[in-house]
Amino acid sequence: MIKGSFPTEEFKKLRTPFYYYDMELLASTLEKIRTEAGKSPEYIVHYAIKANFNEEILRAVSATGLGADCISGGEIEAALKGGFKPETIVYSGVGKSDAEIELGLEKGIGRFNVESEAELEVIDEIAGALGKKARISFRVNPDIGAHGRANLTTGTIENKFGIDMEQLDKVVDRSLSMKNVEFLGLHFHIGTQLTDMSDFVILCNRINDLQQRFLKKGISIADINVGGGLGIEYLHPNHLPQADFESYFNVFRTHLKTIPGQKVHFELGRSVVAPCGSLISRVLYVKEGISRKFAIIDGSMTELIRPALYHAYHRIENISSDGDEETYDVVGPVCESTDIFARRISLDKCRRGDFIAIRSAGAYCESMASRYNCRPLPGSFFGKKKK
Ligand code: LLP
Repeated sequence: MIKGSFPTEEFKKLRTPFYYYDMELLASTLEKIRTEAGKSPEYIVHYAIKANFNEEILRAVSATGLGADCISGGEIEAALKGGFKPETIVYSGVGKSDAEIELGLEKGIGRFNVESEAELEVIDEIAGALGKKARISFRVNPDIGAHGRANLTTGTIENKFGIDMEQLDKVVDRSLSMKNVEFLGLHFHIGTQLTDMSDFVILCNRINDLQQRFLKKGISIADINVGGGLGIEYLHPNHLPQADFESYFNVFRTHLKTIPGQKVHFELGRSVVAPCGSLISRVLYVKEGISRKFAIIDGSMTELIRPALYHAYHRIENISSDGDEETYDVVGPVCESTDIFARRISLDKCRRGDFIAIRSAGAYCESMASRYNCRPLPGSFFGKKKK
């Protein structure tokens, strides 16, 4: 989305801040995923609902035939409302409540990704009481410290996620003796915003070893779920508006040794939706401090918390101005000193009322919005797809 191509005339009719979604970019990203994953017919891609559960986005994604990856009962309901078929839903989470397990069974979801022996027992019991059989995979903690920020890795033994590899055989054996669960697969997820493909190579090698271990015991695994994690380019969203899906799927084609008939599942979130979204705010005030100049905008950490929470970088542009560049701290109105989007960045000269776009905000932004300070949740506006 280059600067001049935002529909700023239409923006003038809307209350800021709001999310703008470029549906053309989303459509071409989904098409790219279909093409690259489609080179291997056994590859099945699920969309991680947590990245963005705006109903319009869910409808666009589900229409292309992707499955859903959910983390809560609320996400299962959102996925179904957004047009995903129940049998395409995979459901992870270390703390599934009884009500959420019942919901998954009643709706007939495709898979529970079980994260502990204690959870296995509860699922077996609830499925028995409902007269159902739960299709399960075990989420394995592969103990891989993937690149990226420490608070965003999920696959090391200090993390709460998944079952440790040494304890896996026991849990699998246990499930094979249970009446109300059907053991079908192994699930992994090593982290997020990973752009170094070597992390996924390590994952493949780990899965190959584990698979051999099970084959030697005469247990064959119907499917492998490799999770999500593919990163995007936050620095230059216009240069690289799509994640490197080609290299990503090729890594698995080259390194993952599947057995005949086995399916491989993927759970992509960020790479599907992050590039197509921008938070659009207006400049409220330009405040000239003694040591710095602040562009105070009407968007805040309640609409987009990633910079405050993870010091995450999002490119910021003044899409109303082509004045000379000046240096600003871009801040929101919320009563927290972490309500800062960027410090000392160059923006085209800001005046009251200018539109500010915070880019690459389609994933983990609207879905993480809060109502702190009694702020309303942001609205959304969808840029049209080409006919
Ligand atoms: N599968 C599982 C089990 C996950 O936990 C996640 C993300 C995904 C798939 C999707 O991963 P992705 O393809 O989006 O990397 N709020 C953080 C991101 C948290 C990701 C949590 N799990 C952020 O704003 O960066």
